[in-house]
Amino acid sequence: MTDKRARLTVDGLEAPIDLAIHSSSVGPDVIDVSGLTKKGYFTYDPGFMSTAPCESKITYIDGGKGVLLHRGYPIDQLAEHSDYMEVCYLLLNGELPTDAQKKAFSDAVMANAKVDPSVANLIKSFARDAHPMAIMGSAINALAAVYNNDIDISKEEDRLQTAYRLIGQVPTLAAMAYKHSKGEAFIEPDASLSYAENFLHMTFGKAGEKPNVKPVLAKAVDRLFILHADHEQNASTSTVRLSGSSGTNPFAAIAAGVATLWGPAHGGANEAVLNMLDEVGSVENIDKYVAKAKDKADPFRLMGFGHRVYKNFDPRAKVMKVACDEVLVELGKEDEPLLDIAKRLEKIALEDDYFIQKKLYPNVDFYSGIIMKAMEIPTEMFTVMFTLGRAVGWYSHWNEMVSAPYKIGRPRQLYTGYTQRDYPQK
Ligand code: SDX
Repeated sequence: MTDKRARLTVDGLEAPIDLAIHSSSVGPDVIDVSGLTKKGYFTYDPGFMSTAPCESKITYIDGGKGVLLHRGYPIDQLAEHSDYMEVCYLLLNGELPTDAQKKAFSDAVMANAKVDPSVANLIKSFARDAHPMAIMGSAINALAAVYNNDIDISKEEDRLQTAYRLIGQVPTLAAMAYKHSKGEAFIEPDASLSYAENFLHMTFGKAGEKPNVKPVLAKAVDRLFILHADHEQNASTSTVRLSGSSGTNPFAAIAAGVATLWGPAHGGANEAVLNMLDEVGSVENIDKYVAKAKDKADPFRLMGFGHRVYKNFDPRAKVMKVACDEVLVELGKEDEPLLDIAKRLEKIALEDDYFIQKKLYPNVDFYSGIIMKAMEIPTEMFTVMFTLGRAVGWYSHWNEMVSAPYKIGRPRQLYTGYTQRDYPQK
């Protein structure tokens, strides 16, 4: 708290409205407007451009400087030196784990990777060509049916067990969704493998065969999960917080986050980027598509560009671009034509006045799709990969909220409809 105050003068009010200011540890302070209702006013902020609905200690973003910190650690350092299990522990607990704490956490996650047969059967009930994000949302919500009577969210031990189950089972569900689309048998999780190796084995392995995962792919997937782990109050995380604020089952709240992430303006952009690059088809067509993106009359947008917060560069995109070059070389796919189109598109866009003026830079989704294509992950699974990384971020924010006193989220509105009128007498 700071002793700084804000005073809002409003025509017609005798005295200014005195508002408290709460200070941040870094980044903008906030003006507390919660008491404005008593003065007969609401704030109005469509799209939450300037609204902080909560306090958090998990992730800090500076959009102007391209800074992303998880519990104070910069994302590029975590991507280079850490691994996903360690980042999960950090996001959930606030500190990096000791070796013993990390092993215990990882063992508990892997011990909870097996999916209940009722959920496996639900996945089998979908059409083969059902979008895997629809399957993931349904399957994660189905975990609320499996784990409902034995969860008391007011108990820390129950919340920790739920974290193990969620982080443990989302890769298994994703692998099942993929296997179902191929008509192939499901593969049980293998706790002797690392988190990323286990996911790749369950997804691309063959039932009954020994795991045979390329280390370069496991490392690339682990880094992808780190880069997608959390991102402050983005749309899907805000959905999880709002949904969770009613006290609902945590798996149900996470499933609401999956639905939000799927949209092409959010996590669905990685799939949309690949579809866009496929549509562009060759470097000769780039100018045509850049012109479409700039044309207000044309709904086409350059997918993978722009961000509500980053107005300089997305630090994850920088790491992803380096990883992209490394993975393509390691997989012998450095001549991937889509990469050439992507790099040319990025160069043209970053030199074009429209994109410079509107501060549109490549975001996390721009290069991630090319890495996943090189790894032969099907395009429709790209947002599922985002879901796997982000599950821990959603849960960490849900857990931060329910671990302290909280209120149900209940926004108000600017009402411009009819005033009261009587039903016509017949
Ligand atoms: C993610 O919030 C997060 O942290 C999200 C995320 C996370 O980790 O959780 O980082 C993940 O969702 C990344 C973003 C992925 N989405 C895309 O790549 C889709 C393409 N980008 C846009 O749809 C857009 O840039 C958004 C949705 C990302 C941001 O939209 P904003 O902040 O609401 O900005 P806006 O739509 O108001 O655009 C501002 C201007 C507009 O022009 P004007 O009306 O001012 O003339 O920029 C233009 C837009 O038309 N614009 C684009 C553009 N993005 C914005 N023009 C062409 N191509 C684009 N991609």
